[in-house]
Amino acid sequence: MTIPKRYLVTSALPYANGLKHVGHLAGAYIPADIYVRYLRAQKRDVVFVCGSDEHGTAIPIQAKKEGTTPQAIIDKYHEAMKQDFEDLNISFDIYHRTSSPLHHETAQEFFTYLNDRGELEIKETEQYFDVEANSFLADRFIKGTCPNCGSDRAYGDQCENCGRTLSPDELINPVSTLSGKTPIKKKTSHWFLPLGKHEAFLREWILESHKDDWRPTVVGQCRSWIDGGLQSRAVTRDLDWGIQVPLPDANGKVLYVWFDAPIGYISATKQWAIDNKQRIAGGEDGWKPYWYDQDTQLVHFVGKDNIVFHCIIFPVMLKLHGNIIPANVPANEFLNLEGDKMSTSRNWKLEMRDYINDFVKPENGGGQCVDMLRYYLTQIAPETKDSEFTWRGFQDAVNSELVSIFGNFVNRTFVLMHKLCKGKVPPIHNDLLDDIDKQLVIDIASSKDRIEGMLEQCKFRDALFEVIDLARKGNQYMQKREPWIVAKKIDTDPNAQKSIDNTLHLCLQLTANLAVLVNPFLPNTARKMLGMMKVVEKMLDWENAGKIKLLSVGYSLREPQLLFRKIEDEEMKEQVEKLKAGLVKSESEQSKPAAATTNPSNTKMETTAKPVIQFDDFAKIDLKVATILAAEKVEKADKLLKLTVDLGTEQRTIVSGIAMHFQPADIIGKQVVVVANLAPRKMRGIESNGMILLAEDSSGKLHFINPETVIGSGAGVS
Ligand code: 2FM
Ligand code: ZN
Repeated sequence: MTIPKRYLVTSALPYANGLKHVGHLAGAYIPADIYVRYLRAQKRDVVFVCGSDEHGTAIPIQAKKEGTTPQAIIDKYHEAMKQDFEDLNISFDIYHRTSSPLHHETAQEFFTYLNDRGELEIKETEQYFDVEANSFLADRFIKGTCPNCGSDRAYGDQCENCGRTLSPDELINPVSTLSGKTPIKKKTSHWFLPLGKHEAFLREWILESHKDDWRPTVVGQCRSWIDGGLQSRAVTRDLDWGIQVPLPDANGKVLYVWFDAPIGYISATKQWAIDNKQRIAGGEDGWKPYWYDQDTQLVHFVGKDNIVFHCIIFPVMLKLHGNIIPANVPANEFLNLEGDKMSTSRNWKLEMRDYINDFVKPENGGGQCVDMLRYYLTQIAPETKDSEFTWRGFQDAVNSELVSIFGNFVNRTFVLMHKLCKGKVPPIHNDLLDDIDKQLVIDIASSKDRIEGMLEQCKFRDALFEVIDLARKGNQYMQKREPWIVAKKIDTDPNAQKSIDNTLHLCLQLTANLAVLVNPFLPNTARKMLGMMKVVEKMLDWENAGKIKLLSVGYSLREPQLLFRKIEDEEMKEQVEKLKAGLVKSESEQSKPAAATTNPSNTKMETTAKPVIQFDDFAKIDLKVATILAAEKVEKADKLLKLTVDLGTEQRTIVSGIAMHFQPADIIGKQVVVVANLAPRKMRGIESNGMILLAEDSSGKLHFINPETVIGSGAGVS
């Protein structure tokens, strides 16, 4: 492997319009931090940049919501997000902000450079306009139904439900989010980046050169964008919040937030060079090689909804501007929470701040709780497909892996070393080493090689598994050796102490190795282990891993400290209750028929936000054929019908959100399929005991799934 001269690692700039949740943390921040910590341990030249994304419609919308100014919003959330990242040990070299004058200048220079060279086109188009608010409706100022998934949480730039990038013209039934009114169309001129001109470059660069080393999900998304035809993208907006287009005839137009935000990576690097001019080569110009020298490896960590911007639009901009283009964009899929997509608008989320407040208090474990979260989020990282955070999963990961495997091994090693070797690193007696000892030494070296290979390829989940597996091997080794039993033979067996020495010597060397290997993932833990071993930070250099000579014979070590505490059932119960209590779901959401996620005719449904389930999950569903005996409208609820169904063995009441689709009289006597073991739920004061399955056809009409007519293969059960 050729090692590049330097690395520039970026994490997506979060919008400064609210606190971020653990889904963001797992997607763009923890993986980047692991990568950077690994590179630093390898003593490679790396700069890790991030900052707040402070433009775009999301900011004035939040200001309106909070009854304040956009400036007050960005100031508040910039500081809050910065603090969250610091508290969770995300080790940016700089956390910058796009409202800074340096960034404004940098973005304007970028625009001018492209415009002066004829790389942008001016076009007059018709765009949605809100007459009442006297405003064009860009991006989040317009809302409607998603043409991809049918959700009504789709905006002019993106669908909140499925993550698809949209333009206002694609929205079904668009309405202004400023006034709630239906907009008109009005002519306006904008600058466009003609992506179509760069198709050959993008095809060659992504679909040929990176088809095997980038994540398949990333290449797949790029392929579908490129094959779908690359349209010109407007890079300016009619808005009064943003960076002014630097031209005299721009009429107060601003740069599109997705034009300026990624340039934020460059301005952050410039600011980093200014801040560190005394100690870096090139002084204030020290940022330049990171963006211009071909021997720099640029790596963007983002969530899947940001792929197109980082793999297609920004690289085209970078190429035209004479900069380097990314070497990799290891984007993650989405992280769901307790069975549902995380959503700020529905308040179904775990904010980083909530976790910090509840767990990272000194009395609750402080730093070790930071590492517990980092561990779990890496263990379930959505690297290849959507994955899921559950409190039960968090508790299992901590208790069964961190406490029982990793923590237990280190603790046992230290306790026994104090008890049987006088608190000092015992000598090694080579003549007594057998195959079991030798295998452990081989395992240490080969684990290090595998972990290194995985980290180089950004396979953090697998790499972390290997670290735990090595600790597991340590426990197995200890179990085979049983030094506490050997200790009973000290007076009778002349080799007993030597055997104990060998066992604990190797276990201590393994402990030191574990500190080096776990450091990129769990930096607090690694430092706590250094403290116990009385060694300095330098021991965490990656070159020390894989060796069994990290601790010197005779060196006295401290008493062990527990690395991780157990997570109690009660704590998890509280968290689940808190989550449910915070849930604000609209009634229509609650009573939405199953059809919304079982549309067999919609070929794009693979982008649905629900996680993939395993057969075992599916097998938990108890499906029963039932006959509808009675149906009536639920008072003051347009969408709900109260049904009495006969399951053969019992009759039940089910409240279903189908009143807009069926007349009560028409459905009596119909046979339907019912999810019989769904937990009861109250709607409008009526307890619903089950759910009726429905499927939607291509015209949006709902059909019952019944034993005679199975509608569409997607809904069929075999
Ligand atoms: O999706 C988002 O939250 C954007 N603020 C990410 C921007 S990443 C970069 F380009 F700045
Ligand atoms: Zn959608």
